[in-house]
Amino acid sequence: MKIGIIVYSYTGNTLSVAERLKTTLEEAGDVVVLESIKAKNENPNTTKIELNVIPDARQYDQIILATPVRGFSVSPIMKTYLENWPNLDAKPIACFVTHAFPFPWLGGNSTLKMMKKLVEDKHAHVVSTGVVNWGSKKRESDIQKILTDFSDRKIWS
Ligand SMILES: Cc1cc2nc3c(=O)[nH]c(=O)nc-3n(C[C@H](O)[C@H](O)[C@H](O)COP(=O)(O)O)c2cc1C
Repeated sequence: MKIGIIVYSYTGNTLSVAERLKTTLEEAGDVVVLESIKAKNENPNTTKIELNVIPDARQYDQIILATPVRGFSVSPIMKTYLENWPNLDAKPIACFVTHAFPFPWLGGNSTLKMMKKLVEDKHAHVVSTGVVNWGSKKRESDIQKILTDFSDRKIWS
């Protein structure tokens, strides 16, 4: 099984979790590729999104998507990427988000809901989700939960 971790990260929080996840999955014997989505202008205030690094999701058997929360929703760069996805016939997808506000209902939960819809619009399906509250004392346990949940082979079958 070839696993693709496709991440958007601006200040590095989401990417650092994605890197740990890659290591965990590789230690379990999986083949894992980590790819970052990039846009020409990543300034959070920009309204014009033009992607210039667009990972090809079709090459992977399983996909992990990761994004920061932006304004209670999916970061515009990840949203643009997913809106332009091809049809991904029933491919299994796990998603996680990182956010800074103290409670998941201040963005984490709504962002995951939105990610699920974007993924399902492309006929793929979400098999597991995770939220990391970056500003919380629970941050490390949030990350550990994602490492455990996403490396459990049962979710992918
Ligand atoms: C423009 C902007 C909007 C944000 N909006 C939210 C938000 O609505 N809720 C939240 O909890 N965190 C919000 N954050 C915080 C980021 O989600 C958080 O710092 C995240 O871990 C950053 O991930 P990254 O380092 O991978 O870019 C926002 C950050 C920025 C820059």
